[in-house]
Amino acid sequence: MRPRQLILPMFVAEGLDEPRPIASMPGVVQHSRDSLRKAALAAVQAGVGGLMLFGVPSTRDAIGSAGTDPDGVLNVAVRDLRAEFGDDTVIMADTCLDEFTDHGHCGVLDDEGRVDNDATLRRYAELALAQAEAGAHLLGPSGMMDGQVGVIRQALDDAGYIDVGILAYSAKYASAFYGPFREAVDSQLKGDRKTYQQDPANVREALREIELDLAEGADMVMVKPALSYLDVITAAAEVSNVPVAAYQVSGEYAMVEAAVAQGWLERERTVLEILTSIRRAGADMVLTYWAADAAAWLD
Ligand code: PBG
Repeated sequence: MRPRQLILPMFVAEGLDEPRPIASMPGVVQHSRDSLRKAALAAVQAGVGGLMLFGVPSTRDAIGSAGTDPDGVLNVAVRDLRAEFGDDTVIMADTCLDEFTDHGHCGVLDDEGRVDNDATLRRYAELALAQAEAGAHLLGPSGMMDGQVGVIRQALDDAGYIDVGILAYSAKYASAFYGPFREAVDSQLKGDRKTYQQDPANVREALREIELDLAEGADMVMVKPALSYLDVITAAAEVSNVPVAAYQVSGEYAMVEAAVAQGWLERERTVLEILTSIRRAGADMVLTYWAADAAAWLD
C-alpha cells in the first residue's frame, strides 16, 4: 500500500462557518468551504492520490437542482480546490443526485414514486457537465443507473471535456455499511436502494456490471463496500483492463473507530491491516476516510 493509492472522500456543507462533526464517524466532519481547503491541503501534503467530494446542500428538491447549479455547494467546492491545486492532485466529484434530492434517492422519481432510470440519466449528464465545468478531473457516478457511464461519457465528449475521466461505481451493493453516510450527507432517504444497487449475495451481476461499464467507457471501475467484498474485488481485478478501486465505506470506518474508542482495537495496526487486505485482494486504489492518516503512517 502506498499513500498515492489512497483517495480521501470529503464532505462539504453549504452555509457552515466551521466544520460540523459527524457523530457516527468520529474524526470525520462536514466541512465549511474554508475548512475543506485546509483539510484538502493537509491530505495532499500527506501524500494521498486524490480527493472525492460530496456536497451537502441547504435546500433540496425532487430533481436535485442544487447538484447542477454552478453555485451549488459541490460545484463551488470543486472550483475552489481546482483553483488551489491545479493538477497537483486528482479532484473527483460524486456524480449522483441523492445528496440533492428531497426524497434522498439517487435518481428522479416517476409518478408512482419509483426511480426512473432514463430520466435520471438525463440529469446525470447535466450533473457531469456542471462538475466538469467546475474543474473536476474525474467523475464518480455512484447512482447505479443502467447506462450511466455511457451517457456521461457522451455528454463530456460532446462538450469537449475529453480529458475528464470516469471512475465508475460498477459493483455497488445495497449495503448496511452505508448507515453513517446517511448522517454525513443529511440524507432524506426513507426506504432502501435495492431496486438499483446490487444484492450482496450476487457476484455474477457485479462482473456483468463491470463489463458494461468498461464497454461504455469507464476509466476505472469500483467495488463497494470493500472489506465484506474482497472476493468481488479479486474477481473484478481478473476481468478489468482498467484500474480497480475499492471504497471502504462509512460503516467500515465507524465499526473500527467504535472499537478503537473502547480500547478494543489498535487504530493504526487495524487500519493498515485492512487496507493491505484490500490491496492484496486486487484493488489498485482505495477510497477511505483514513486516507490522510494512513498516508502519514505509511510514509
Ligand atoms: C450515493 C453514495 C452513497 C455512498 C457513496 N455514494 C450512499 C448510498 O449509496 O446509499 C456511501 C459511502 C459511504 O457509506 O461511505 N451518492
